[in-house]
Amino acid sequence: MASARQRLTPTSDTALLDARLLLSFVIDQPTTWLYAHSDSPLTSEQAEKFTHLIEQRTTGMPIAYLTGTRGFYHWDFVVAPDVLIPRPETEHLIEAAQTWLKNRQGEKLNIVDVGTGSGIIAVSLALLFPQASVTAIDVSPAALEIAKLNASRLGAGNIEFRQGNLLSNLPSDFRVDLIAANLPYIDHDEMLTLEVAKWEPHLALDGGIGGLDLIRDLLHQAPVHLKPGGLILLEIGADQGEAARQLALGVFPNATVEVKQDLAGLDRLVIIQC
Ligand SMILES: C[S@@+](CC[C@H](N)C(=O)[O-])C[C@H]1O[C@@H](n2cnc3c(N)ncnc32)[C@H](O)[C@@H]1O
Repeated sequence: MASARQRLTPTSDTALLDARLLLSFVIDQPTTWLYAHSDSPLTSEQAEKFTHLIEQRTTGMPIAYLTGTRGFYHWDFVVAPDVLIPRPETEHLIEAAQTWLKNRQGEKLNIVDVGTGSGIIAVSLALLFPQASVTAIDVSPAALEIAKLNASRLGAGNIEFRQGNLLSNLPSDFRVDLIAANLPYIDHDEMLTLEVAKWEPHLALDGGIGGLDLIRDLLHQAPVHLKPGGLILLEIGADQGEAARQLALGVFPNATVEVKQDLAGLDRLVIIQC
């Protein structure tokens, strides 16, 4: 452990934590197990795998892509370089959806998750609201395969998967109660400077110039499909609250639009009650 930590220190600010996470992955035990068993020897196979993972980590590859999973809300999701690594901030969107949906228990609801990626939003809502019909959309076929895998591993049978550009592949008479989306929202030029862009798909990060291209397009497509009284939940970037509010009011002038902050006090979620 000490040598793994030493090997990671020049390239990671969290060298000890990284080493613990990778070791616990290799031996298939929780990190807490390591504290009581620090002198347990590794098999030669485990030692070789651990060394290989540490070497990969020195290149900057995110831990979640090395271990192939990331926890989100109550569940562990499979992740791979074709999808964004789930972020804890996105749990605010799930909580807002729960608050809205809990008053509609028993109703047969249609929920759409646009830009589903690994499927964290669609699968979480499908599991929390088994009576709902969830549609998970992504433009990336590779992402949809991972989302399908997560749905089947976690037993979410009430999801239909569709490949497409935002809502454009939905039948014109398809009506939705809740549209949830964590679409790419990073400004194109800024994205190119970010460490995450070296590893995570640009398709999951690049929101165009200013970052709001996809959110704007989704809002323009939404009125055809959203039922009267429906809700739209959009994850946004830290400085996009006011711009997103104006975009929402431009399309839904009678809606109530609220911008919520995350635990760091940064704009993170737009709630559009139509
Ligand atoms: C920021 S990631 C979010 C993934 C996942 N929902 C999450 O919260 O972790 C955005 C996702 O939107 C998808 N995407 C990008 N452009 C899209 C488009 N025009 N239509 C549908 N999905 C799109 C990307 O492939 C990516 O999976």
